[in-house]
This record gives sequence, C-alpha cells and structure tokens, in this order.
Amino acid sequence: MNAITVNNLSKYFKIAKQGKKSRKSKEIQKSKDKTVQAIDNISFVVKEREIFGFLGPNGAGKTTTIRSLTGVLKPTKGRIKIFGEDIWNHPIPIKQIIGNVPEMANVYMDLTALQNLTFIGELYGIHKKENLNRAEILLKKFELFEKRHFKAKKYSKGMKQRLLLCMALMNKPKLLFLDEPVSGLDIQSARVIKQLIKDYNKRGMTIFLTTHDMGVANELCDRIAIINNGHIIRLDTPDNLKKLTQDYLAIDCYYENAQQIKGIKNLMTVKEVQEIKDGYHIIVEDVNDALHEIVNHAKLNNLKITQLNTHQPTLEDAFLKIIEGGG
Ligand SMILES: Nc1ncnc2c1ncn2[C@@H]1O[C@H](COP(=O)(O)OP(=O)(O)O)[C@@H](O)[C@H]1O
Ligand SMILES: [Mg+2]
Repeated sequence: MNAITVNNLSKYFKIAKQGKKSRKSKEIQKSKDKTVQAIDNISFVVKEREIFGFLGPNGAGKTTTIRSLTGVLKPTKGRIKIFGEDIWNHPIPIKQIIGNVPEMANVYMDLTALQNLTFIGELYGIHKKENLNRAEILLKKFELFEKRHFKAKKYSKGMKQRLLLCMALMNKPKLLFLDEPVSGLDIQSARVIKQLIKDYNKRGMTIFLTTHDMGVANELCDRIAIINNGHIIRLDTPDNLKKLTQDYLAIDCYYENAQQIKGIKNLMTVKEVQEIKDGYHIIVEDVNDALHEIVNHAKLNNLKITQLNTHQPTLEDAFLKIIEGGG
C-alpha cells in the first residue's frame, strides 16, 4: 500500500486587496482580490518505507503541501489518502499514526524538555509508566537526556528542533512529516537529526520531508519531487536527477608534453575535447569508462599523465538546470 496518495491537489489563497473601504458592494471588492495558487494540480504517491523529499525554492508551495497532507489546511481541490484512507473523512485515526514537525512549530517554553514530552504522551493517552519510558528513550537518542530538566526556553534552536522531533515521535508514528527539518540549525543538531531520520526509516518509518537544500535532499531521500511555483516539475531518484546534467560529465587530464598528444578526440567514450594548459578538458559519456580508455591510451602511446580530475554533476547542477528549464 502507498503511504500517501495525492490526486490533483490544488490550494489557492485569496488575498484581499488593500483599498479604500467604500460602502459599495462586497462583490466589487471580491473581484479585486488576488488569488495566489500556492499549489496547482499536483499528483504523486509516496511508497511505504521510503524517504520522500519535496525540494524547491522559497515560496514554491512546500509548506502548503505538507499542511494539506497533515490535515491542517483544507485544500481547494483534490484528494489525499494516507495509508488508503481519506484524510478529511478519517482525520482522527490518521492523526494517531502520523507524526508532524511543522515549519513554524514551537515547544512549550515554560515546561522542561521531559515535561514537554510527557505532556504530549498524555494527550495521546499513553499510560504513565510507558509515557515516561518513551520520553526518556527519545531524549537519549536525540542527545538531550542530560538537559531533560532544563526549561525549553533555555534550549538553543537546534535543541528545540530535536525536542520537536521527539514530540512528534511520542506516538510511534508510521509516517513522519518534517517541514525543513534542519534548516538554519547548528552542525551537531543537523547531524543528529539526519542520522535519526535514516535510522527510523531503516526500521520501517515512512518519511516525507521538505527542504530547499539539495544537499539534504541528496543525502536523505530515496526519491525527490522538485516543486516550483506550485507545480511538480520533476520526480525521480537523486541519481536520475543528477543524470539530467550528463553534459557536465568531464575529465581534466594533464600530461607531460601535452602539446604532442594526438588521438584523444577519437576515443570511443569522448564527446568533446578542449585544450587547457598542460592538458585537455574532456567531455565524456561515462566517467568510469572514459577513465579506463584515457589511461589505456596513455599506456599504449607511452604518455605520462601528471594529473587527472573528474567533474561529476551535483544535485545542485540538476536542480538549477531543471528550474531554469522550467521542467
Ligand atoms: N496563508 C497564506 N495566505 C496567503 N498566501 C499564502 C499563505 N500561505 C502560503 N501562501 C503563499 O503560497 C505560496 C507558497 O507558499 P509556501 O507553501 O509557504 O512555500 P514554501 O514552503 O515552498 O516556501 C507563496 O507564494 C506564499 O506566499
Ligand atoms: Mg516552507
């Protein structure tokens, strides 16, 4: 079964235009209202046990999507199913099996970290002993146990975010939603969070996360939807997304006596050759095959290679290419 199925989801926001308030009918005012299409007719599925990423620039529609999927925001159109159930028809049982860390969430500042967690546990009706047990296990995992009796207002931003994750995990969700989970955090918190996202996923949890950071998407996600202006413009694995920038696969090869070298252009795997100082910038089909061929060519012709550098495309290259090309 799919963890999430989204069909033709749209969310439009009406923004009232500021203007002179006249007594003239509301109709005129309404016609002046601006509509923002935060998400426009998107469809996708998230498979059970995958880490699925929503990657896009600011204002792309990521938060609006996640708020719709978690039943916080009613979509304008479309259907959302969580483990086969319509979120709007069965909100309570669904909310019991999901965890959610919203973008602008906050902890209860005047409670200690431990109290924050046991309070959430009580809301879920978890038995007292089990509640404390779960809270302590989570605090240890997220490296907060030592400071569990500190009031949350004493916590740094990264510690608060770790605590928010603990709160979202108190009900042992099957599906976890994270909106920009490591954005703006210190390195230690980001590391702990990324590692635990991987660990929980390995043990079977499905994870849906948003990020504007391709490094994060690349590191964590099995599949990535790239969203821009409310549209999904690509949906694929990080490797396949990177392949879109194949043109950028290149090897810089430096030789002793580079000027006298011939025949590189005729190698099977070479697409194009540009001369650079003491060597060649070689654009290739496949880096691995080309490396073998270039080294063989050097051996056969008694050439001495002094240096070899490869250029692999990054997800960032792919992202920019896709966004610039409009998909
Ligand atoms: N409550 C709202 N009222 C009006 N416009 C909104 C509201 N929430 C989001 N938007 C608009 O919808 C678009 C998508 O926003 P959002 O989903 O927050 O993007 P992201 O999370 O990708 O940065 C933006 O243009 C934003 O200004
Ligand atoms: Mg957002």
